[in-house]
Amino acid sequence: KARLAILLSGRGSNMVALVQAVQGGVLQELAEVAVVFSNKPDAPGLETAAALGCATASLGSQGRKRQEFDADVVEVLNRYRPDYIVLAGYMRILSPTFIRAFAGRILNIHPADTHQHQGLHAYEWAFDNQLPETKITVHLVDEGLDTGPVLAQQPVDLRGAATLQEVERRGLAVEHQLYAATLAGLIQGKLTVPDAALAAPDSPTTPEAGL
Ligand code: GAR
Repeated sequence: KARLAILLSGRGSNMVALVQAVQGGVLQELAEVAVVFSNKPDAPGLETAAALGCATASLGSQGRKRQEFDADVVEVLNRYRPDYIVLAGYMRILSPTFIRAFAGRILNIHPADTHQHQGLHAYEWAFDNQLPETKITVHLVDEGLDTGPVLAQQPVDLRGAATLQEVERRGLAVEHQLYAATLAGLIQGKLTVPDAALAAPDSPTTPEAGL
């Protein structure tokens, strides 16, 4: 079974969906949760993960230099021998130190098409611009901000969504399905990982990588 390290900074609804998929859904025969990690020791998602029976770990990132903090995180995560690093609302830009430690094995989910929107507040962006749809994107993380190879996308119909809460509700329902399904496909070798994503160490890309 593939060992997952799930990283979060907040609520952790994607983490819950992944744990449920491991415990009785599409990931059941394929994966196990090695650890749920947070850069915020008081993230609500950590408590939820523990209640679901997951091992948890945290290291506070506040006031820490990015490279040094990430080196410490890599050390903690390596104790759990993860095959995949699964970012689930992990609101931190990842340094090359981190990316290179797990090159080609870091996944992220983003509430928009990463070709159109990067970084924070994607649902606000879709709502404010009254977009008729958003495209949930699961991608591999490389050294750019939301530039990594796309593994899967699924559109969400946003027509008639009158509030930001409704936009988020529709989007998250798709996120929760798509993330587990994409991981299952990856683990089963049904999705091919572009070679470029694995060649991270010497590739001349931007110095910081993202959420
Ligand atoms: C999710 O909507 C996720 O797609 C988004 O943060 C939320 C975390 O919610 N991630 C990003 O915007 C990354 N750029 P959760 O803690 O309930 O899973």
